[in-house]
Amino acid sequence: MKIQRLRGMHDIFGDDALKFQRMEAAARSVFSRFGFEELRTPLLEEKELFSRALGTDTDVVQKEMYEFTDRSKTQVAMRPEGTAGVVRAYLENEFDKKEGLCKFYYIGAMFRSERPQAGRLRQFHQIGVEQLGTDSPYADAECIHALTVFLDEAGASGYKVKLNNLGTMEERKDFREALAAYFAPHRAALCEDCRERLTRNVFRLLDCKVESCRAIVKDSPPITLYLMPASKSHFEKVRASLKSLGVPFEEDPFMVRGLDYYTMTVFELSHPKLGAQDALAAGGRYDRLISAFGGDEAGAVGFALGMERLALCMKEPEHPPLENGVFVVSLGEEAFQEAFRLVASLRAHGVQASMDLSPKSMKSQMRLADKTKSAFTLILGENELKSGQWTVKNMKVGSQETIDGKDCVNLLRKRLVRSHS
Ligand code: HAM
Repeated sequence: MKIQRLRGMHDIFGDDALKFQRMEAAARSVFSRFGFEELRTPLLEEKELFSRALGTDTDVVQKEMYEFTDRSKTQVAMRPEGTAGVVRAYLENEFDKKEGLCKFYYIGAMFRSERPQAGRLRQFHQIGVEQLGTDSPYADAECIHALTVFLDEAGASGYKVKLNNLGTMEERKDFREALAAYFAPHRAALCEDCRERLTRNVFRLLDCKVESCRAIVKDSPPITLYLMPASKSHFEKVRASLKSLGVPFEEDPFMVRGLDYYTMTVFELSHPKLGAQDALAAGGRYDRLISAFGGDEAGAVGFALGMERLALCMKEPEHPPLENGVFVVSLGEEAFQEAFRLVASLRAHGVQASMDLSPKSMKSQMRLADKTKSAFTLILGENELKSGQWTVKNMKVGSQETIDGKDCVNLLRKRLVRSHS
């Protein structure tokens, strides 16, 4: 029987692989400009890291983690997201003591055993950034700004930024009680999921998509009633700095997030090219996480975006990647050996070069040269070897010339630079 890939886990190749490369290049370029450094954390961590960080009552922890007991009887889980591992690494490597403020970005696979559908996978990839050790509202604004600059650079403009303030943990306690008291008499009219949310996580009722629930949510008490002046002023600074940076946003007082660690600012970016799963990126503050894992009281903020979802939103690049370099056609055994050495030498000099390693006719090699979209084809046959003068064909314009074999690597490099500029 044929073995097939697991449901919700994809092979990434062709145009998608190229899009992933473009996103990764844009991420490295933009985030390093903003002062973020790369952090690579393990794909496997102790399960408890996630249950404590994300919340034992969240869907991710309750239903979606790939978890198992390893050979040393440790309960482990494939990471469902990146933030928990970053906080663990920050504390375990004592960055909190040595550096205080740390700015990290990460790129990698995450795993959630969700029901697969368009835009929702079981192995998916995220690009994320985290700033740890800061309470500054400007850090929130900087994260959102970095995300929008990245999306513009990756060719995915047209997104919408939504913003909300969830308040501190203490403020949320009062808010939670008020919501529970408000929704309790409506229990019978709520959808089945919301009835469960009423006991498990009342905040999640706020972003229920079912029409009859929304009608009830509409009149629920707003968080603003429970915010102290300090949280209001923090949020005001986030809003003002986004305005001064020219980042358009909308406020959504009903936006809550599916992970329990959020406090204060939360945000979500959606894109019209995505269907039902329109969240392209999401993030916010998680001010209690560092201290919950044994660090000092210190704030943190970050976001992550789904790379598969971003691939659906990206435009073709304005400057498509440069066509390939040189294809070397060889006619006869002696020419093949010379071509084999030449291709190696071109590659050593930074030129993309290829050839047919089982060469047949001139025609079939020229077909391959076309397929590899080479800018130049170099033809090596008996005559060329004898004269030391090699034939070069410019594939774009179709012209042909003869060049000195000894100087061919240099000449081709120069021609390629010119044809690419
Ligand atoms: P999240 O909202 O769970 O947040 O995920 C962030 C993004 O990952 C989503 O907006 C979506 O694009 C993508 N994503 C999530 N689940 C899937 C899936 N099953 N298939 C495809 N894409 C998916 C977090 O993960 C937080 N760690 C973000 C964060 C960082 N908050 C603070 N720092």
